[in-house]
Amino acid sequence: MSAVVLDGKKIGRLIEEELQNRFIDLQSKGVSPHLAVVIVGDDPASHVYVRNKELACERCGIKSTRIDLSEGISEQEILDTVNRLNSDDSVHGILVQSPLPKGINESLITDAISPEKDVDGFHKMNLGRLVQGDSSGLLPCTPAGVMKILDLSKIDISGKNALIIGRSRIVGMPMSILLAQRGIDATVTIAHSRTQNLSEICRRADLVVAAIGRPEFVKSDWIKPGATVIDVGINRVIDSSKKSGYRLVGDVESNASDIAGHITPVPGGVGPMTIAMLMSNTILATEIQSR
Ligand code: GUN
Repeated sequence: MSAVVLDGKKIGRLIEEELQNRFIDLQSKGVSPHLAVVIVGDDPASHVYVRNKELACERCGIKSTRIDLSEGISEQEILDTVNRLNSDDSVHGILVQSPLPKGINESLITDAISPEKDVDGFHKMNLGRLVQGDSSGLLPCTPAGVMKILDLSKIDISGKNALIIGRSRIVGMPMSILLAQRGIDATVTIAHSRTQNLSEICRRADLVVAAIGRPEFVKSDWIKPGATVIDVGINRVIDSSKKSGYRLVGDVESNASDIAGHITPVPGGVGPMTIAMLMSNTILATEIQSR
């Protein structure tokens, strides 16, 4: 392996530790940061992610409340839950775990969350601020975590070609705005299911952010030698040799590490950074509400 491994677990823990002073300040004012996490249905991966968010809250001293709703619940009942949390002054952050069951309009739910409690940063108001060039508010956690990895690892992408594969509301779209913003100055391309000649575009990229949710979709021979590879994918593939019956792989072939200059591992790369940024957003949301 020639690439430098970008250790998201280590960087994420550092970020969590750095939040301690702000947490203590809030406590000294009698404010206890509190995150409410709503999970709908039984998707095993979502339950693992939510558990990891609860464990991070425990590490940071943040109170967490988990609200489990059944798969067959109506959109209105989810909205009622969100509205109840919006008007609960003891709750500072609200997160509704995605994906939601078929037939539920995720954007409708996201936009029902009060913008100052929107620790996912998905509300129109928070995304709108970002589009206006102001990144001081509540930012989507995964793209914000990627920006932190690049910053703390001193990877300068000013003027370089950045390729984002995937145009989701959670990762790809906000990622493109953060990378193109003034002061970061990457030249950004967003690829998606209709993109032609993806392998050629990828070979020109100095930074590749793969966020498509398809196991090892990006081939190692698409990677430009020395490029930075950020693998957002966490895919379960069947592996009968494992006790769990599966193993986790990213969206990029694992031997891309022979070619890349820097690469995030899966697991232990972007995942822990997303969680650290959620903790950071929860502290920021609490600060905003207690001003
Ligand atoms: N599902 C996968 N990633 C995320 C995330 O960052 N936030 C929420 N709410 N759901 C997710």
